[in-house]
Amino acid sequence: GRVILSGIQPTGVPHLGNYLGALSNWVRLQNQPENQLFFSIVGWHAITLPQSPSELVERKLDMLAVVLFFFQEHNPNHTELAWIFNCLTPMGKLRRMTTWKSRLAASKNLGDAQVDETGLNVGLFTYPVLQAADILLYKATHVPVGDDQTQHLELCRDIADQFNRTFKGKGKERMFPLPVQLNTPISRILSLRDPTSKMSKSTPDPQSRILLTDSFSQISSKIRSAVTDSTPGITYDPVGRPGTANLLRILRACNEINTNTYTTQGENKDDSDAALYSLASHYASKNHGALKADVAEAIEEMLKRPRAEYEKIRREEVYLRRVAREGVEKAERGPEVTMREVRERVGLV
Ligand code: TYM
Repeated sequence: GRVILSGIQPTGVPHLGNYLGALSNWVRLQNQPENQLFFSIVGWHAITLPQSPSELVERKLDMLAVVLFFFQEHNPNHTELAWIFNCLTPMGKLRRMTTWKSRLAASKNLGDAQVDETGLNVGLFTYPVLQAADILLYKATHVPVGDDQTQHLELCRDIADQFNRTFKGKGKERMFPLPVQLNTPISRILSLRDPTSKMSKSTPDPQSRILLTDSFSQISSKIRSAVTDSTPGITYDPVGRPGTANLLRILRACNEINTNTYTTQGENKDDSDAALYSLASHYASKNHGALKADVAEAIEEMLKRPRAEYEKIRREEVYLRRVAREGVEKAERGPEVTMREVRERVGLV
């Protein structure tokens, strides 16, 4: 069977990008009984950027009410393995991570003190190594994430391969699988305010993203004010009309989820853009207003049930704490065995 692992940071209620790029896939994979699943809320990744401690406690419960699994920071094996991986990972590889480069660029724009990487913390730098530990600790074979995580997954495979070659077992069997990325058909959702960048939790403008908890009127107003273009009529042109293309992609993904025809990339008969051109053709002679109205309705249709469930579960704190406790118990067993073998191979018994 497949061992599926993924993670999400407890930095706020998930947005439409998290949902269409990753969470919707987790739900699908959960319905396939042959899969062994691990979904983690990654507090250690969250603190690579400053967090208010009291807010973090609340955001962790918010996220637990969404995914109902385990907290990374309840299982210290993650950091132990990350340390060992740190000692196998060249700095140059981490400097090439686009996530690191964009943090660096952002800190340079701040001017003054943080003019170079000396102002950024080491945890942020080795963030992708900790992510590799999250995955390999469970010997995961498949990782359902959005396409902003592709480079991290490549690094994870490099680290697995490096470990396998450096620390061969007695029978020369390899320690870690090389995990495969699983994408949804639409694995990159763009910001509603700036369709050249991805929808993200950290962008200051709340109009740029739709949250899982938004009401229909909030959804409608955010979609109505989404940046598009002034070309009349609707066509699918991701390069020339990125804002319009983003809306069409969101509409397609929501329609598929609402009609239960959603798949993982590669499983689908029609992953090409053909479906998007054909969707656009329905709106060829209509305007953005008509498209936006349908997009808002499709999102509402998709989110109304998860939203209601979330609101109910979020109030049940006793239940949530039990879920976290049971989650980490389940998530500890495999890793204990893996770590014993890792320590043995490295010579740290
Ligand atoms: P995070 O918390 O930023 O995002 C959670 C998931 O949402 C996806 N995602 C998107 N997909 C499509 N369009 C978008 N605009 C968009 N924004 C976010 C992300 O790809 C992700 O799948 N580093 C990870 C957390 C992590 C992890 C792991 C993931 C830590 N350890 C181990 C997998 C395996 C992150 O920051 O996710």
